[in-house]
Order: sequence, then C-alpha cells, then structure tokens
Amino acid sequence: MKGIVLAGGNGTRLRPLTLVGSKQLVPVYDKPMVYYPLSMLMLAGIDDILIITRPTEIEQFRALFGDGSRLGLRIAYATQDEPRGIADAFRVGADHIKGEECALILGDNLFHGARLPSLLRRTARELRGCVLFGHQVAEPWRFGVVETDAKGNPLSIEEKPEHPRSNLAIPGLYFFDDNVTDIAGGLRPSARGELEITDVLRAYLAEGRADLVRLGRGVTWLDTGTHESLLDAGRFVRDMQHHQGIRLGCVEEVAMFMGFISPEACFDLGAEMSGSPYGQYVMESARTHRDNPVPTELLEY
Ligand code: TTP
Repeated sequence: MKGIVLAGGNGTRLRPLTLVGSKQLVPVYDKPMVYYPLSMLMLAGIDDILIITRPTEIEQFRALFGDGSRLGLRIAYATQDEPRGIADAFRVGADHIKGEECALILGDNLFHGARLPSLLRRTARELRGCVLFGHQVAEPWRFGVVETDAKGNPLSIEEKPEHPRSNLAIPGLYFFDDNVTDIAGGLRPSARGELEITDVLRAYLAEGRADLVRLGRGVTWLDTGTHESLLDAGRFVRDMQHHQGIRLGCVEEVAMFMGFISPEACFDLGAEMSGSPYGQYVMESARTHRDNPVPTELLEY
C-alpha cells in the first residue's frame, strides 16, 4: 500500500506564520507538524510515501526527509500549484500510486491513541473499497459529516452541512483501493471550486464499498489550522509527553518500532540531535528497544 501526505494549501488562517513557509512545517510543540501525520502512515505499515507540497516549499521538505532512507522509507515529492481540493491528491499522485491501494492523510491532522497502531494495520489489511473514520465532535458543521444506520454503517456523507445529520465528523485520514485514481479522475469541482474528498467517498458509498470505522473514545483527533487550535495541539502534545514520558509523532522511534530501521540506526539519528531533549529521547528509546524489543502486534502508541 502507498501513502500520501497532503501538505499543500495556503494556510490562510495561520498567516503570518504561513506567509513564507509551509503550514505543515510549523512546530507543534517540539517537532514540525508533518511528523504527526507521517508517523500515522508509518504505523499503518506504509513505507512508500508521497509528500505533496506547494512548489515553493518542496525543497524544505526534501531537506528534512531526503529520500526517506534514513527512516527506512521511500519518500517521493510532488507539487500542487493551487489548492484544488483534497481529492486533487490522487491526480497529482496518480503516477506514484500506479493502481495500488493508498492511504491519504492531511498534513495538519494529529491523531493520538494507544489502539491506533493495531487499528490502522487492521484497516490496511482488511481494506475493500474505502475506509473512512468517524469521530464524535461538538461542531460537526465545520467538517465532512457521516450519517449512519442503526448498525453503524455509513448512509450519507456531506461536506460542511448547514444542518448535520449526525455529530460524526470525518477526520483527514482515508484508505482506498486501487480504483481511487479513476474515481478522482472523473470528479468535477464543487460549488466552492474544489475537488472534494467527500465526492470520492460518496462514489464508494454508492457502490456499497465504503466502510466506516469509529475512532472511539480512546482516540484524540486534533486539527491545527488556526492559531488557537495550533496552540491547543502544542499543549496537548506537551502534556501527554510530560505525563506519560513518551513522545508523540516521533518518526525515528516509529521507524524503529515498525522494523523499518534498526535500533542502532535509530540511536544514530538521535545522536545527531543529542543537544535536544528530543534527540536524547530517541537515543534512550533505541537503547531500550534494543534490549527489550516491543513486538509490532503489541505496539501501543
Ligand atoms: P485546509 O485546512 O482546508 O486548507 P489550508 O491548510 O490551506 O488552510 P486555510 O483554510 O487556513 O487556508 O486544508 C486541510 C489540509 O489539506 C492542509 O494540510 C492543507 C491540505 N490541502 C492541500 O494540500 N491541498 C488542497 O488543495 C487542500 C484543499 C488542502
């Protein structure tokens, strides 16, 4: 399965932070925002990833991750010259996906929860059609919203509805089978001029091939698109890390947990940042994992 991190967009609501740089490289507490969504794809077992950025920012991402090999990944880059909508990712990324299954995550979405690693791996393994997630929120009208039947199967999907039929918002993480590029290729822009991801999901729903997975109480989903939500996310990361003695979105550690790199390679990556608490943490985690490896199926994150 391939992965896409969609990290373009204008970041209008975060200006001036985003006037000369990428929104997805803005720090969320101790690391660039993009570390969080990238680590989610890795936890799903995906090691072949396309990062889509604005043309002006591709070199910054390349400087950060290179070809991905230091994390045991294959990372490629593509650019989106205008924010034409989330479903545009499948047009920009069509060559990269090349008729394979694909997970798409938005570069500003942050997820946390101990059951996520197993949930993501199972979702990738059992994929038939598409999988969207549902998460209960207080203000559903701000999101894509999914309505369900009594058994929890998806019935309807609407983008930012005025009168939401449920309080289940659809977070920016989706899994698709190998039809997704064909479906996205046939889309027309919506009234607001975007290629809508909800239209892709609706196409799968109409074929009876859309599965809904509820993230449930144990999972936190944060978006980081405004100054307030960015600060909230930073505080959340700081508090979780402080109280639990772990780090969220630590791509070096996740690469090691997933077996993409050895504990020795992980240690070396940490050593390059040994002047920071983050680097120290990576080194310590590598030492611990070398002595007591955590089996992937027991991985909590
Ligand atoms: P949005 O929050 O809809 O847009 P934005 O990030 O540009 O912010 P603003 O509304 O303040 O201008 O995008 C959600 C995520 O998807 C974000 O990571 C950017 C990304 N995105 C793209 O990369 N390309 C696109 O065409 C769109 C619509 C979004």
